[in-house]
Amino acid sequence: MVEQINRTIIIHLFTLLTALILTAFLSLPTSAEDGSTLFKDNCESCHGTKARGPDRVAPPMVAVKNHYLSEYPSEEKFVAAIADWLKKPDHGKTLMPGAVQRFGVMPPLELEPDARRDLAKYIYTTDFQMPGWYREHFRKEHGKDPQ
Ligand code: HEC
Repeated sequence: MVEQINRTIIIHLFTLLTALILTAFLSLPTSAEDGSTLFKDNCESCHGTKARGPDRVAPPMVAVKNHYLSEYPSEEKFVAAIADWLKKPDHGKTLMPGAVQRFGVMPPLELEPDARRDLAKYIYTTDFQMPGWYREHFRKEHGKDPQ
């Protein structure tokens, strides 16, 4: 009797383990998509450098990165703050009130938690291009040259 129960438990555990391993395998393709691809697919249309100064619909990523770096210099805090923004863009937590006033709050995007972190890490480790007009704009706003 006891042996019977033990065998049943072992079989159940084995099934559970197989299911867990399968799930891990099946979720690999999404996490393997790297930050650069995620950025191109989800962010570049608004945060790219192609739009000329007056045509732009959002600040260029170099501007976003500068604001977040000066508030959160460590990678850990930077990644947490960007990932949190992506989870739910919210007027109450903006570091760029001027941009919110000019463009409105960024629309929420459908992104998995892993993708939000991969994107945040990609932004932290990437040097974004400064559009031609940006240096002058930064000087006007901040009275000094951008880094
Ligand atoms: C449809 C256009 C659009 C897309 C797509 C978009 N953004 Fe934005 N984003 C904006 C606008 C507009 C702002 C400026 C207003 C604001 O801060 O909410 C902004 C601001 C931000 C900010 C600064 C937030 C703050 O105010 O402190 C971050 C960080 C950001 N975007 C990251 C991203 C990332 C990463 C992606 C891609 C996953 C992305 N955005 C995609 C329009 C967009």
